[in-house]
Amino acid sequence: MLNQQIQDALNEQIKNELYSAYLYLSMAAYCESVNMPGMAHWMRMQELEERMHALKMFDFVNERGGRVVLQAIDQPPAEFKSLLDVFEKTLAHEQKVTAMINDLYALAVQEKDYASQIFLQWFVTEQVEEEDSVGQVIETLKMIGDSRQGLLMLDRELGGRVAPQTGQQVQV
Ligand code: FEO
Repeated sequence: MLNQQIQDALNEQIKNELYSAYLYLSMAAYCESVNMPGMAHWMRMQELEERMHALKMFDFVNERGGRVVLQAIDQPPAEFKSLLDVFEKTLAHEQKVTAMINDLYALAVQEKDYASQIFLQWFVTEQVEEEDSVGQVIETLKMIGDSRQGLLMLDRELGGRVAPQTGQQVQV
């Protein structure tokens, strides 16, 4: 059985993951608007991952006999200064999410909730990977600068990002 404090924190994080999905979907729309379909696809895959994260938590709360209570999701920004701005904001957002996951983990330690600690370890590892992958895109974008050809090559590469293994009934 989940204690109330951890249940509330997980419900809050479900909302945060769904906001992340919403943010990346908004970024996908921006990438489409500036004719970068590969980057838009990358953001769609990112959006799918975030929904998967939310659903993982949704299932965990239920498995532990808790109660999922969905919360309101804020409107994400629609406009960005540039493609570099999009990916820099993605990294900044992921760094915030990492801090949230760390806080959740610390709470599970404080409450001696070992099952939640094990569950959250997956997210701790996932955040390392997420920050790394977006950091690589930022480095490449900085190298490319204003080269249209370089941008198109990166767009093609990012368009090849494969869908995450959801293990759940989520449609792309
Ligand atoms: Fe669900 Fe990108 O962290």
